[in-house]
Amino acid sequence: MLVTGASQGIGSAVLYGLARAGHAVLGVSRTKPEQLPKGATWRSLDLSNAAGVEEFVSTLESSALRALVLCAVDYGEGGRHPAAGMSAKEWQRVVATNCIGHCVLVSRLLPRLLANALAIVVNISSDVAVLPSAGRAAYAASKAGLHAMLRTVAAEHASDCLRVYQLIPTFQLATHGLRRRRPASFDFSSYADPAVMAEVVGQVLSTTGDAIAAGTYLVQRDGSLNPFAEATQL
Ligand SMILES: NC(=O)c1ccc[n+]([C@@H]2O[C@H](COP(=O)([O-])OP(=O)(O)OC[C@H]3O[C@@H](n4cnc5c(N)ncnc54)[C@H](OP(=O)(O)O)[C@@H]3O)[C@@H](O)[C@H]2O)c1
Repeated sequence: MLVTGASQGIGSAVLYGLARAGHAVLGVSRTKPEQLPKGATWRSLDLSNAAGVEEFVSTLESSALRALVLCAVDYGEGGRHPAAGMSAKEWQRVVATNCIGHCVLVSRLLPRLLANALAIVVNISSDVAVLPSAGRAAYAASKAGLHAMLRTVAAEHASDCLRVYQLIPTFQLATHGLRRRRPASFDFSSYADPAVMAEVVGQVLSTTGDAIAAGTYLVQRDGSLNPFAEATQL
């Protein structure tokens, strides 16, 4: 299994959760995690560099890849600010990382995933992918782009054994990324632990018991999943 954004936040929690469950898991990020759980390996990957993502995939060992969990994110500059104030550099970096880097990674890894009897892609999506969110235009555009790309991939492979899950948290989680964006005195007591999402990802990836149907889900704070009704026709 391959996890992006493995150095911190939800990605790190997912890496630990999957390793604890006995899966062989490869984490990728730009910064090496200070510690790695037993059973996990790590490689450097900068998703903002599409050519680097292609190069990374070409050097991956040929061992089977059963699942891809997309957790990496660039939230953009500072706090919320209107679209009119976003620099070209910010647009470029946020969309390149969250959307294009992940799109290249998914598309290049699809043949390997489809070589399995069952393959799973999990995207930690966001409410901003499906709802307007003032002051977060670059983040929203990047998340909506990846969300749409994965719906298309799911449709292209509807008859294959590929399950695509898009998980939209309905609550906030106290991750490194969000901590950096809040004042030092901010009270995070109402924010959940990233382990909540790791638990949900573990359930979705589980092949024991009844499989959760592929699709988009709203994740509740207690870890329960409510199907999200995406538009399927106009
Ligand atoms: N936290 C929340 O409340 C919340 C709510 C809804 C949805 N989400 C979604 O959950 C996911 C994880 O969010 P988070 O809050 O856990 O994020 P986070 O704490 O900011 O962690 C982001 C991860 O992405 C990696 N990353 C950033 N830029 C990268 C790049 N150019 N190339 C490769 N990796 C890069 C970071 O590692 P390096 O810096 O080492 O590269 C880090 O491991 C995101 O998709 C976010 O949209 C989060």
